[in-house]
Amino acid sequence: MARFSTLLLLCAAATAASASPFVVRDTPVTLPIARRFNTTGSAKIVELDRARAQMLKNVGHAGGNTKRSVPDVMAVNEQTHYTVLVGIGSSTPQTEYNMLLDMGSANVVVGGGKAYVQTSTSKDTGSTVAATHGSISFTGEQYTDTVTLGPLTVTNQGIAIANSTTGFPKGVDGILGIGPVGLTKNTVSGTQFVTPLFDNAYEQGQMTADVVAFAFAPASQVSTPNGLLTFGGTESSQFTGSVQFESITTTSPASKYFGLDMSITYGSDTPILGSTAGIIDIGTTLVMLATDAFEAYKTATGAVLDDATGMLKITNDQYANLQSLFFTRLSVTYEFVPNAQIWPRSLNTAIGGDADSIYLVIADIGSQSGSGLDFINGYAWLERFYTAYNGMVEELGVATTKYTNSTDN
Ligand SMILES: *[C@@H]1O[C@H](CO)[C@@H](O)[C@H](O)[C@H]1NC(C)=O
Ligand SMILES: *[C@@H]1O[C@H](CO)[C@@H](O)[C@H](O)[C@H]1NC(C)=O
Ligand SMILES: *[C@@H]1O[C@H](CO)[C@@H](O)[C@H](O)[C@H]1NC(C)=O
Repeated sequence: MARFSTLLLLCAAATAASASPFVVRDTPVTLPIARRFNTTGSAKIVELDRARAQMLKNVGHAGGNTKRSVPDVMAVNEQTHYTVLVGIGSSTPQTEYNMLLDMGSANVVVGGGKAYVQTSTSKDTGSTVAATHGSISFTGEQYTDTVTLGPLTVTNQGIAIANSTTGFPKGVDGILGIGPVGLTKNTVSGTQFVTPLFDNAYEQGQMTADVVAFAFAPASQVSTPNGLLTFGGTESSQFTGSVQFESITTTSPASKYFGLDMSITYGSDTPILGSTAGIIDIGTTLVMLATDAFEAYKTATGAVLDDATGMLKITNDQYANLQSLFFTRLSVTYEFVPNAQIWPRSLNTAIGGDADSIYLVIADIGSQSGSGLDFINGYAWLERFYTAYNGMVEELGVATTKYTNSTDN
C-alpha cells in the first residue's frame, strides 16, 4: 500500500501544476492513468485479448488504414483498460473527456460518452475521418482544437469528432491514440497523416524530447490509479538501471505498433519462441504467445487449460517449481519471474476463477509463429517493466523497475 501512496503523491504534484501554454518543459512531466477493471463482463479475458490481437494484425497488414466494415469481434478489452483526462477547447472552462489510452492507434478521437463542445478554438477542417484502428470503429468529421493534457497545451491538434462509433467501453468519451504516426495513414480525407498529440506538443516546444513513457505498478485491486504516463523524457524514479532503446522492429505488422524483436526461453534452457517480432500493448491484459510457443510453455510448466476462465492453471507444487521466462532483446535479457507469470490471486474470483487456484497470464494468441506479430506483452508484462517510445527516432526503450521481481501476485 505504501507504494501506491507514493505514486499518488507524485501524481498530485504533476496535476497541481497549472496549464500555461508555450513553456518548454525541461523536466518530464507525469500524469496518473486509471486502470478500469470491469468485473461484470461475462466475456473471458483470453477471448478479448485474442480478438484484439487479430484486429491489430489485420489493421497492421492493411497499413494503418482500414476503412472497412465494422468487425464482428469486440476489439477493445472491455474488462481492463486505462483512461486519462484530456481537456479540449479554449480555456475557462475546457471540456474534460475521459479518454482511453490506446497504443494501437494514433488519432485523437472524441465520441462515445460525451458530446464534443465547440468553442472559439474549434475549427472544422472539412475533411471526413473514418477508421477501424486497432480498437474502435468510427466515422465523423476532422476538426482541429486546443488540447490540454496535464501541463501540456497543444494548439491546432487534429481531432476526429465521431458521430458514429462502435466498440467504445462505457464511461469512455474518446481515444487518445499514442501509437506511431504511421497508424494515422489515410484516416482523414485529403491528407496522408495526422500529427499525433505528442509529436505536435514536441513541435510546438511543449516538450524537450518527443518521448512518452509508461509505468504501471502491479494492481491487486479492481480499480486503481496505478499507472503513470510521462512525456518529454523518461522518469528516473520509475525504473532501475537504464532504459535500453532499440529501433522499432522492421517486421510487419508488428512494425506498425510499438514493435520489438525478442526471443523467449523458459528456465535455463527450454526454448519457447525463437527471435521474432511482437509488440507491447496496454490494451491487452495478458501475455499472448503464438500457439506453438504457448504449447511449449504449457508443456514446460505442466499447466492445464481451465474451462471456467479460459486460462492456464497450475497446482501449488507446480508453482513452487515454476521457472522464470527470459525475454531477450538483442543483448539484453528481461527476466519475467514466476510471480509475474501468475494472475493476481486476489482477482481470481473477478475473472470467474476459484480463490484458491493459481492461473497463469500466458495465453494463446490463436495462430502459429511466423505471422509478423508473434507475441503481445500486455498489461501483465508492462506492470513489471518500464517502457518508453521516442517518436523522433522511432525507438522503443525497456527497463526493469522496483516491481520487476515483486511477489505481490
Ligand atoms: C463491462 O463489460 C461488458 C461486456 O463484457 C459490457 O457489456 C459492459 O458495458 C461493461 N461495463 C463497463 C462499465 O464498461
Ligand atoms: C457523420 O459524419 C460524416 C462526415 O462528416 C458525414 O458524412 C455523415 O453524414 C455523418 N453522419 C451522421 C449520421 O451525422
Ligand atoms: C530480480 O531477481 C533476479 C534474480 O532472480 C536478479 O538477477 C535481478 O537483478 C532482479 N532484478 C531486479 C530489477 O531487481
